[in-house]
Amino acid sequence: MSPESQSPAKDHAHPLSTTHTLAANPDLSFSVEALLRRIENKTAIIGVVGLGYVGLPLAVELGKAGFSVVGIEIDEKRAAECNAGNSYITDIPSAELRTVVNTDKLKAYTSFEALAGTDVIVVCVPTNLGADGNPDLRHVEASAEGISSILKPGQAVILESTSFPGTTEEIAKPILEAMSGLVCAKDFLLAFSPERVDPGNKTYTVHNTPKVVGASDVASLDVAVMFYKQVVGEVVPVSCSRTAEMVKMFENAFRAVNIGLVNEMAQLCDHMNLDVWEVLDAAYTKPFGIMPFYPGPGVGGHCIPVDPVYLAWKAEKLGFDSDVVWLAAKTNREMPQWVVSKVGRLLEKQGSSLTTGKIVILGVSYKKDVPDCRESPPIYMIEQLQEMGSNVSFHDPFVDEIRVGAGKMKSEDLEDALASADIVVLATDHSCYDMRDIVRKSKHVLDTRGMTRKFGEHFENVTLL
Ligand SMILES: NC(=O)c1ccc[n+]([C@@H]2O[C@H](COP(=O)([O-])OP(=O)(O)OC[C@H]3O[C@@H](n4cnc5c(N)ncnc54)[C@H](O)[C@@H]3O)[C@@H](O)[C@H]2O)c1
Repeated sequence: MSPESQSPAKDHAHPLSTTHTLAANPDLSFSVEALLRRIENKTAIIGVVGLGYVGLPLAVELGKAGFSVVGIEIDEKRAAECNAGNSYITDIPSAELRTVVNTDKLKAYTSFEALAGTDVIVVCVPTNLGADGNPDLRHVEASAEGISSILKPGQAVILESTSFPGTTEEIAKPILEAMSGLVCAKDFLLAFSPERVDPGNKTYTVHNTPKVVGASDVASLDVAVMFYKQVVGEVVPVSCSRTAEMVKMFENAFRAVNIGLVNEMAQLCDHMNLDVWEVLDAAYTKPFGIMPFYPGPGVGGHCIPVDPVYLAWKAEKLGFDSDVVWLAAKTNREMPQWVVSKVGRLLEKQGSSLTTGKIVILGVSYKKDVPDCRESPPIYMIEQLQEMGSNVSFHDPFVDEIRVGAGKMKSEDLEDALASADIVVLATDHSCYDMRDIVRKSKHVLDTRGMTRKFGEHFENVTLL
């Protein structure tokens, strides 16, 4: 156990306790006190639906804390890997997974029937965008349907999947009630707690990242708070699930807007022949009122490109234009295209072009030191370059193969790639990249992440974004 997990949970004021008490909720058809006791003494059985980047680490932490965990994973291959103790999530070493699998603290199933007999069910399924670019809640809806088929009085359901305010109460709750015939806040409990995991982050993990929890009745909130206190050092209760959903939307909109701003600054500085990195370094010396964000080739992953769209979409449904959020999302979405145009300008300076020059992209995952390629800007760049007929290849130490359009591409040998390239685009700042060596072996480098700045010297063959 980490030191953080051993320190006592930090208590925050309970937003519903001034207006409600458990005793004031005589309508409950089961003993919430008994459920709270089972959670506190770890005899409660926990279900985790969706064993991906969010669900698997949570399931492992719960198992390590002493709970018996039932994982539901529709991907048969993932369920089998989990049960064999072979981790498919970088932040969870297989040895750590095996400590809970081999002690029967975690078992994965592909059918929701296995959730019968669980006390608390946590939903960690994807919330993507559909083909129309709008929120696609099919996995949340399918999970609610699956859970409703086994739902019994006394169970608590907690949604963690990121979504717009109203998802828990307006989408999950009606499905759970209609299909089970049970009533929320009477027969079963329902809460929302946004997931804040940052894959690859070694400093902030499940233990020491405060957990926000919201529910619209006191019993649901009490149970959810008690549940997370078993594995998280600080739990922050808020007054309803919509507030908790909005907290996550705000956090990710905050990032998207600030990244959008520095990306726009990068383009503007390029236009004005200024060095954006020098501008930012100087600006960030201000000790108050500013927070460092840096430009890059765009935003990727499951959250920053997707969540602002969830928020702005919901706002629009309610007749409100989230102009700032939309504009940031658009600016970030257009960055890969802008980087490609800059590659074109650099090639032209060499007497080459996007169609004649050899272009190598270093790093195709959306962030450093992870293999996750969802919504990854470097892949959008490769797609655009291919459409233009460019000679483009890539290297990534974490990714062997990517899908580009209808085809596939394999990671090239780094030495061969550098030797053959007219321009190398450093797209993902993986820690293992030896930038001095890469610069030495490359004809020209476009450094979109500012990785070469740490050497504090000017390289003739390096251009910063
Ligand atoms: N990955 C992150 O960094 C991160 C951070 C914060 C929040 N989130 C949010 O957490 C949620 C989950 O994200 P993730 O990154 O873990 O996704 P993921 O794709 O890594 O994992 C989700 C898992 O759920 C499974 N699944 C899908 N539908 C299912 C169903 N009906 N029943 C059982 N299993 C099902 C999938 O097969 C997959 O293994 C999303 O809403 C995401 O926005 C993710």
